[in-house]
Amino acid sequence: MRIVLMGAPGSGKGTQAQRLSEHFGIPQVSTGDLLRVAVERGTQYGRAARAAMDAGALVADEIVLGIIRERLAESDAARGFILDGFPRNLSQAEALAKMLASIGQPLDAVVLFEVDPAEIVRRISGRRTCQRCGRVFNIYSNPPGSPPHCPVCADHPPLTQRSDDTEATVQRRLQVYEQQTRPLAEHYAAQGQLKTIDANAPVETVTARLMEALGEPAHRPRAG
Ligand code: AP5
Repeated sequence: MRIVLMGAPGSGKGTQAQRLSEHFGIPQVSTGDLLRVAVERGTQYGRAARAAMDAGALVADEIVLGIIRERLAESDAARGFILDGFPRNLSQAEALAKMLASIGQPLDAVVLFEVDPAEIVRRISGRRTCQRCGRVFNIYSNPPGSPPHCPVCADHPPLTQRSDDTEATVQRRLQVYEQQTRPLAEHYAAQGQLKTIDANAPVETVTARLMEALGEPAHRPRAG
């Protein structure tokens, strides 16, 4: 399976990509996560990407495409992948199509998550991440304790808020999404690849809708 998940910041792409990754046994490839690692490590890509990310703007295509090419060439991506946050504009979509055509492996589906603006603000303001395992939680919908700590890692490290989840940066990210990324939906719709799901629902319900959109046999929500 080669899948693209599209949607506004905070629409739940990362959360659902992790679930699809477990279900299909293929990697989640998040350009946001890859860029954050590059920034953290101070690599050449990271140093170049930092200012754009802090400002809520898109990182230059050549950096993102370089990172994606390297990641998709890794052995675990040979059986498929879930692209989370890429492509984000038409030139990235065209570059991806060329990359996949050259290996004879076109996309299977592009799924667009639709979420109301007020719910997006609530999700982003409540998001907390474990720096150790990378899992994402929410203090409203998935309470990780007080003070928030990772319930999965053995020593329960404190959870942190992403530096680009400030009100001003989120507004900018939402504008960038509307102007540069959302129009890609029409591009993929014209190619007959787009599936749109209502993602204004609890995580389990969204997973069930996603599986249905992908033509997977009925997904039974996990208990609890
Ligand atoms: P990136 O990291 O991709 O951020 P984003 O697209 O803004 O998306 P988010 O990670 O904010 O949200 P999400 O949809 O994954 O939601 P999540 O599952 O976490 O990009 C960051 C920056 O990197 C960009 O601004 C840009 O600078 C750069 N960048 C990245 N890719 C690029 C590219 N291709 N080109 C150029 N630049 C690029 O969920 C959010 C919260 O809601 C969580 O707390 C979660 O627990 C909760 N939640 C999830 N689902 C539900 C639900 N159904 N109900 C209730 N709560 C839920």
